[in-house]
Amino acid sequence: MEENYIETVLDTESLLKEPENFWSGKVQSGKEWHIYQGDVVNVLSKFDDESFNCCITSPPYYWLRDYGNDKQIGKEETVEGYVGVINNVMDEVQKKLKSDGLLFLNLGDTYYSGKGQSQGKDAKSKKRRFGLRAVDKSGGLGIGLQKKSAIGVPWRVAIEMMQHNWVLRSTIIWHRENCLPEFVADRPRRSYEYVFMFAKSRKYYFNREPLITKNIDEDVWTIAANGKSEVNTAPYPDELVERLLSIGCQEGGKVLDPFAGSGTTLRVAIDKGFSATGIELNPEFCKYIVNQLNTLA
Ligand SMILES: C[S@@+](CC[C@H](N)C(=O)[O-])C[C@H]1O[C@@H](n2cnc3c(N)ncnc32)[C@H](O)[C@@H]1O
Repeated sequence: MEENYIETVLDTESLLKEPENFWSGKVQSGKEWHIYQGDVVNVLSKFDDESFNCCITSPPYYWLRDYGNDKQIGKEETVEGYVGVINNVMDEVQKKLKSDGLLFLNLGDTYYSGKGQSQGKDAKSKKRRFGLRAVDKSGGLGIGLQKKSAIGVPWRVAIEMMQHNWVLRSTIIWHRENCLPEFVADRPRRSYEYVFMFAKSRKYYFNREPLITKNIDEDVWTIAANGKSEVNTAPYPDELVERLLSIGCQEGGKVLDPFAGSGTTLRVAIDKGFSATGIELNPEFCKYIVNQLNTLA
């Protein structure tokens, strides 16, 4: 909200010693937002431990989108490589969450095509700007996958996270209402993604009330497919973040999104009276977030 906004500080010295940039601001409720531009693990490692109540995030999916940065996650040559990288990030997130904190991790799957180099006729693969994707190379991705198989990426990540002390408490199905239909004729078209609810420990903050009072289906949530953003980040919808905050973050708590993208988590969190911190590799996306937060309506 414009009138809510009090100050924005562009910290030119930067709180961090690396070449990342840092922006912060405060709204009238007293809630602060912070945005760090840089590599996620690098930035996370500099935060104080146990400083966030809740993390809501969506990392780049495996070989689905080119965010135009060499350091971007999602272009690992092997599935194990991707699972390992996401787990490294989530290990850091675990340290930074308070002991009663929750992590909501949104992930979707990728298919193994094994079909080789794109001929450039597929508009979707052109837009992705990848060269030959690992998921198009022959060799079954090194794990013996048959061509056309779903890789099972979300569950591979989740199972590894359980080996890293995360308590998987729920698998919310986000039914993506009115999502763009896939161009496939030989299987049902996908219309859902996972939101894994992980707890750092067995005792954690959780509020079932909104599920009851708002008559929300327990763990199958039908919410519009698309978020709103003028930058190309595959944003999730505000309503998804709103619901997650209402069940998983105590009033006025501190929210973290280590893959901030267009800043949906931060924007919704601030709007709902939480403090919010985001990390994002792409400087253009960071500027977009700062502008958005400065003009909160
Ligand atoms: C799926 S998008 C997040 C979208 C976000 N939930 C939204 O609503 O806009 C993933 C984001 O992770 C960022 N990213 C990729 N690799 C990163 C890295 N190593 N460090 C920090 N951010 C990274 C990408 O630039 C991209 O914006």
